[in-house]
Amino acid sequence: MLSGKKILLGVTGGIAAYKTTFLTRLLIKAGAEVKIVLTTSASSFVSPLTLSTLSKNPVLMDFVHQDDGSLSWNNHVELGLWADLMIIAPATANTLSKMANGTCDNLLLATYLSAKCPVYFAPAMDLDMYKHPSTKTTLDKLVSFGNKMIPAESGELASGLHGEGRMAEPETIRSFITNDLISGLPLKDKKVLITAGPTHEAIDPVRYLGNRSSGTMGFELAKSAAAQGARVVLVAGPTNLDTDNDRIQLIRVTSAQEMYDACHKHYANVDIAISAAAVADYRPKEVHTEKMKKKEGDLVIELERNPDILLSMGEQKKKQFLVGFALETENELENAKGKLKRKNLDAIVLNSLKDDGAGFGAGTNKVSFIDKNLDIKTFALKTKPEVAADIWGEIIARIHA
Ligand code: C5P
Repeated sequence: MLSGKKILLGVTGGIAAYKTTFLTRLLIKAGAEVKIVLTTSASSFVSPLTLSTLSKNPVLMDFVHQDDGSLSWNNHVELGLWADLMIIAPATANTLSKMANGTCDNLLLATYLSAKCPVYFAPAMDLDMYKHPSTKTTLDKLVSFGNKMIPAESGELASGLHGEGRMAEPETIRSFITNDLISGLPLKDKKVLITAGPTHEAIDPVRYLGNRSSGTMGFELAKSAAAQGARVVLVAGPTNLDTDNDRIQLIRVTSAQEMYDACHKHYANVDIAISAAAVADYRPKEVHTEKMKKKEGDLVIELERNPDILLSMGEQKKKQFLVGFALETENELENAKGKLKRKNLDAIVLNSLKDDGAGFGAGTNKVSFIDKNLDIKTFALKTKPEVAADIWGEIIARIHA
């Protein structure tokens, strides 16, 4: 959720400032780009050099800075506009009060006032300060501005007293923000099942029947769904692709039968299923336990039908929005519409091998999305991430209709 996000971290002068080193590490590890603005008093609690090293960016403290003897301006407006989100942690009573009242006597406050992005703040102060009506008024005012409060926790405080006022732990801050970002996404609370890649049907211990599917389309669909808030089960046949997205559960399988079994373990619990895998229709009837020896003359391998995973999901469909793929070389539309009906789908994505740049192996694809009312939307040739976004756009429009 935080991957690729530009995060502005504002650190103010409380003892919890030392914890921003851990917070910075967590944000960087999650793939975010982090810039840090420190108040002067924060620099007494945490070293700007530590934060600069961890964030891989210069830490800013003043409106002006000196470089090789020349003065330059730290542009708070640019910083505020650069950020996708701003976190003020720890947020002291002093800074919170200034934020609430529009005071602008340091770079952090000027940046806060310039920021157009969502602003999160994690108060940190002693228990009596936290309880004070003045603080309560300040916090309410900030929340009324649309700023999001990450509540302080109870525990031992720097004063030695026990109570509410400790800054939320860095992990809590990270998950608060992640959950908040997810709550605004169109696929929040949705569980999605996606099949991807080819299947390999064993002939003997070293040989198999397979196809040229790379799995890219299915992986891109999974990534796009996760980025839009879904939890994804991705059942993939043999592919070089991988994912470290913690919202995608990757289940690797080899054969169509294994893919069938993995899908049906999860199908009943998902809201949306997309079958993007190039499943082998047939498998060798007999799988030799030893490597087959070369013999004189031709070889005939008898094949039997594999289960049709998508058809079985169509038969068992209850609440699921079910999407199939059709890769056709002739009578494309008619064949795709036929599959849509026969497999009891809600939509089918048609890609034609006739189109340059479409289909297996290519980094691009050209698809038409056909829903069960036979409404057709045809897209231009696009990269597979763009195609994935288009397909999700169509699905989301229908599940929220
Ligand atoms: O009937 P056809 O194989 O052309 O249908 C393609 C669609 O069915 C794709 O979505 C593919 O993933 C799915 N399929 C399947 N199991 C099979 C064959 C195809 O899920 N055995």
